[in-house]
Formats: sequence, C-alpha cells, structure tokens
Amino acid sequence: MSDAPAKVFPKRIFSGIQPSGGLTLGNYLGALKRFAVAQDEGIETVYCLVDLHAITVWQDPGKLRHATRELAAGFIASGVDPARSILFNQSQVPAHAELAWIFNCVARMGWLRRMTQFKDKAGKHAEEASVGLFAYPNLMAADIMAYHATHVPVGEDQKQHLELTRDIAIKFNHDYGVDFFPVVEPVIEGAATRVMSLRDGTKKMSKSDPSDQSRINLTDDADAIAQKFRKARTDSEPLPETVDGLDGRAEARNLVNIYAALADVTPAQVLAQFGGQGFGTFKPALADLAVAKLTPISAEMKRLMQDVAEIDRVLGVGAERAHAIAEPVLDQTREIVGLIRSRGR
Ligand code: TYM
Repeated sequence: MSDAPAKVFPKRIFSGIQPSGGLTLGNYLGALKRFAVAQDEGIETVYCLVDLHAITVWQDPGKLRHATRELAAGFIASGVDPARSILFNQSQVPAHAELAWIFNCVARMGWLRRMTQFKDKAGKHAEEASVGLFAYPNLMAADIMAYHATHVPVGEDQKQHLELTRDIAIKFNHDYGVDFFPVVEPVIEGAATRVMSLRDGTKKMSKSDPSDQSRINLTDDADAIAQKFRKARTDSEPLPETVDGLDGRAEARNLVNIYAALADVTPAQVLAQFGGQGFGTFKPALADLAVAKLTPISAEMKRLMQDVAEIDRVLGVGAERAHAIAEPVLDQTREIVGLIRSRGR
C-alpha cells in the first residue's frame, strides 16, 4: 500500500430503524431523540426506514406498510425535519441491495457467525432462519457505506454490527487497493444507550418482548405510561447519592438513566436531586416527566397518520435525494470491482 495519507471524508451522519412493530422508549432515547439533535450540528444527516431489514423475518405485508408509515411519523414527531434531513425508506433506493451483494462477497462467513444478534434472534432454529437474517449485517454496512457516511448514531446493541461495517470497509479498501470507503465511527453516547426492560433490568427494552409491561411504546397514552413506571421492578432501597451507588442495582440505574435522558441532564444530576429518596417519590416524578415528553410525540404521530399520502410523498422526496448520493457511490464501486458499464453509454 502507498504511504499517501489516509483520505479525509467529509462528515456525514447515517442511521436507520426497522419498521417491525411499534417504537419503544429505547428507540426514542437511544436513537430518534439523538437523530433530531444531530440535525442541528451543521452536518448532513441521512435517516432510513430499513424496510428490507424488516423482511428478514416474515412480515404481514399490510402490517409492514402500516409500520413503515408509523415509523416515518415517529421520526417526524420526534423532531427529524424532512427538509433538513434526508428521510426515506430503504427499498426505494436500489443501491442498498446492490452494494449489499458486493459486501456479501467481501464479508467472511466466520465474521457473520460471530454476530450475537443473529444468535439471539435465530436461537436454536438457525437452520430455519432466512439467509437474509444471517447476511443482514452486510446490508447494514451497505446502508451506511452507500452514503460514505462517517458517523452512525445508534444504541449499544448495534455496536457489533458497526464493528463488522468497519471490517468490511477495511477489507474492501485493502482487497482492491483503494481508499474508497470511510471506516465509520459508531456514536454511542448519552445516558440511555441501553434502555432496559421495566420488568428485568438485565434485559434490553425491546419491541419483541412478549410482555407489554416491559416497555414504554411511543404510542402509549398518559395512563399507560404512568402505570408502567409505577409497576416497574425495583429494589427497596432509597436512591443513592452518587452514580457509584447504582452498581449492582440494574433496575434503579435504568430508571435513573431514563430520567436523565428525558430531562437532558446527567445521571449524577438526577441523583443530586433524588438521592436519599425512595421510589415512592422517584417513580411518580419519572412518570410525570415521561408523560410530558412523550405524549406530544404520540399525539403528533396520530395526527400525521391521518394523511398517509403525505407521509408517502415526504418519503418519496427523501428517496430521490438519497438516490442522488448513493447511485454515484455504487457506480464507482462497480468500477473498482471491475464490473463493466455496458448500458447507457
Ligand atoms: P432497531 O430497529 O432494532 O433499533 C433502532 C435504533 O434504536 C436503538 N435501540 C435502543 N437504544 C437504547 N436502548 C434500547 N433498549 C434500544 N432498542 C433499540 C438501536 O440501537 C438502534 O440505534 N440494525 C438496526 C437498523 C439499521 C441501521 C442501519 C442502524 C439498519 N441499517 C445502518 C444504523 C445504520 C436495527 O435493527 O435497529
């Protein structure tokens, strides 16, 4: 390889969310809320509803359509402005699937076998899982690299996929002797990068958990939010004065982190206010805060969902803008790999 200094790529943010089921407080605090903030930092932001990822497990087509539009409404209601960010659904930009194929030929079987999310999702039935579920991280790498994105804000659970994305970029650049794909930086920041289940502080809050009590859905009303926090599992000790005092208290730590992320303060600041007080005081305060922050979002989602044609229009505009960035990247990739451009000469 040459001694030329590594290319500096302009900063571009990319992230995505699957339209499979509803949005949770984990998606909001770990991703959506941060997407809206990133949009104000003077960097181009590209946000994708990853519908092709969702079909790695069978989806009822009608429900998928609904979930995709509701997710778009969730992005917009959380503050992602389709005029300032590019907001679109993945399947409308063919570069994702095509680049994913090329990455299928770069990534190694052993790399994908190590993905804990595949092991968790496929469980004991790996032989019956779709090939798409196994190859999913390559599509995720393609999502990011089709835009030459440099920064990817995600929750903690996506860290391993982003490490694989980095490995694919490095191997592609090395195998073809180019400095073409940037090696992405995962951006896993803030108090709520891993929001835990309200029933079990050792498990991630997830839309696929069979217990609805384990999560706050963005579509929950004020009563449901208050009731779920009231019933959230905790220990019987008062809150500690310092963050160190949360060690070994997963449920308490989770509620403190949620409060901090919703209030835009640090966990230490939450404990400065509530340290020494019991959950009898803290839980209602947390519920009030969550209701104040989340119910305007769910109301706005409901309003937006009354006009799905407008949602589709907004996504279509985003898809055109996304396509304009991704297609030239794909075209250069074909060139690098040695695929002849025979059409449209
Ligand atoms: P998905 O759809 O499972 O989740 C979307 C985002 O929400 C975050 N998240 C959480 N954050 C904190 N606490 C939780 N309990 C929690 N649950 C979910 C996730 O970390 C994620 O940031 N593979 C991705 C989607 C994807 C993607 C991409 C992301 C496809 N292509 C390219 C970034 C870049 C996924 O399934 O996320």
